[in-house]
Amino acid sequence: MLRGLAAPALISLGVVAAVLAFKLIFSRRHEASALPYPPGPNLAPGTMPTFDPWAQYQKWGKEYGELVYIRETNTLILNHSHVAIDLLERRARIYSDRPGSPLLDLWRYSPAWRYHRKIFQQSFRQAAVPRFFPAQYSKIHEFLYDLMTAPENFMQHTMTLSQRVIYTSMYGFDVGPEDPLARKTAEVMELIGESLVVDAFPLPRRFPWLMSMPSWFPGCGFKKKAEECRSILEEVDSIPYDMAVNNIKNGLGTSLIAELAIRSKGTPKEIEAIKSMGTVSLLAAADTATSSIGSFLLCMCLDPEVQRKGQEELDRVVGRDRLPTFEDRPSLPYVEAIYRETMRLHPPVPLGLSHNSIEDDTYCGYFIPKGCEVVPNVWAMNRDPDLYYEPDKFIPERYIESEKGPFRHINEIHAYGFGRRVCAGRHMGENTIWLAIASVLATLTLGKAKDENGNEIDIPGEFTNGFYRHPKPYKSSIVPRTPLARDLILAAISTKD
Ligand code: HEM
Repeated sequence: MLRGLAAPALISLGVVAAVLAFKLIFSRRHEASALPYPPGPNLAPGTMPTFDPWAQYQKWGKEYGELVYIRETNTLILNHSHVAIDLLERRARIYSDRPGSPLLDLWRYSPAWRYHRKIFQQSFRQAAVPRFFPAQYSKIHEFLYDLMTAPENFMQHTMTLSQRVIYTSMYGFDVGPEDPLARKTAEVMELIGESLVVDAFPLPRRFPWLMSMPSWFPGCGFKKKAEECRSILEEVDSIPYDMAVNNIKNGLGTSLIAELAIRSKGTPKEIEAIKSMGTVSLLAAADTATSSIGSFLLCMCLDPEVQRKGQEELDRVVGRDRLPTFEDRPSLPYVEAIYRETMRLHPPVPLGLSHNSIEDDTYCGYFIPKGCEVVPNVWAMNRDPDLYYEPDKFIPERYIESEKGPFRHINEIHAYGFGRRVCAGRHMGENTIWLAIASVLATLTLGKAKDENGNEIDIPGEFTNGFYRHPKPYKSSIVPRTPLARDLILAAISTKD
């Protein structure tokens, strides 16, 4: 009986002691700095806004200033790009860690992360991405065909395109949306997506020692989720990898992953990094491309004039007797401006991925403590009225009119993140989105659907609210621009093996 009482009592005592120790250490460190914390709202852990948090953070920015700090969760929100550049890029040594996550231990700023990032860069740096062109052409041409023949399912086609490009690019084979592997990938993506929202794990974040306690320990429910996620991840890691390696060994086709595996020395560390590169690519590429291409389709349905100008440029530069290619890109400033404006107004990951600070810092007269979760509110940065006139409107012309023009460096697209943790697959991701935009504009016309009386059905233009931001379902009309455009799509599909 006594022993039964002792365990919960000890646990409670441990929790209280940890809270006190945390408060003591935290306040002592701050006393060391005479500067105040940045201002911000008082919020209890686990009560961060969940409905359009980016818009709420933007409002706080107007109230509190350039730095919005939430003391209770040690979270700093950045609503302006120049502050994000100052901290996440110019002070990358301090701000390149990630918040601890029970689901993703690899991504802390560590030698293991550096090793994985290096392997990644070798295959995804700008000079290496033309290797993915054949997969991108082939899957985007299939996408045009799907849009033309079953336009009502345009959202599903967009998701399918994004998954197929990445499976084909990495493993050399196609995976349809109904494939169990694609479903598992979607499942794990959802779990990870949930874990990436700001302050997703308030308890282990405040009491990191909980990470080493068993899953039955009070407050350790997150561990069950982590175990569930890890077991699906193992399958998503291994099944396509094994298939790709078997294919190359049996002369059934090559792929990036299989070539890396064959060329490697086969150490467990290398194999793990190659497998994880495949999985991370699936997880990072599919939803982001779906969101961007989906946002582009929505913007075209809502803005026939922009669509017409893009089509006119393609007709003039590329002509009507072939589909656009990557070589055409430098000659298509208006199409480029549509791509840039899509990424500005609709960043797929509106709050980016949080960075974490590894030491105390000061900025603009404020104290920023070590271990601070820094949230780049890309959604708000891209709507900064000091940088963009009529910031809530889709206006590609802003890039044409500006001194720098539309062909800016990819690093200026904040949707891909900042500093040393900037998106490792951005050159490949950008190519998929650009080619999809150019190919759709060249061949199809999008607009509002009509009801049985011939009246246009309104499109509310709403977006989802999770870690990724996608257009909500709506009805549209998608038709080939001309009989010639229809033939071009059919010809592109029929030349496939
Ligand atoms: C529209 C396309 C994409 C967008 C908008 C996007 C966005 C992002 C963002 C915001 C981050 C976090 C950056 C930061 O912490 O500052 C990120 C990280 C990452 N992305 Fe992407 N991404 C895209 C496509 C891809 C693709 C195609 C791949 C790979 C095939 C990829 C692989 C990665 C990886 C590996 C990281 C983690 C980098 C690190 O922590 O070191 N992404 N991405």
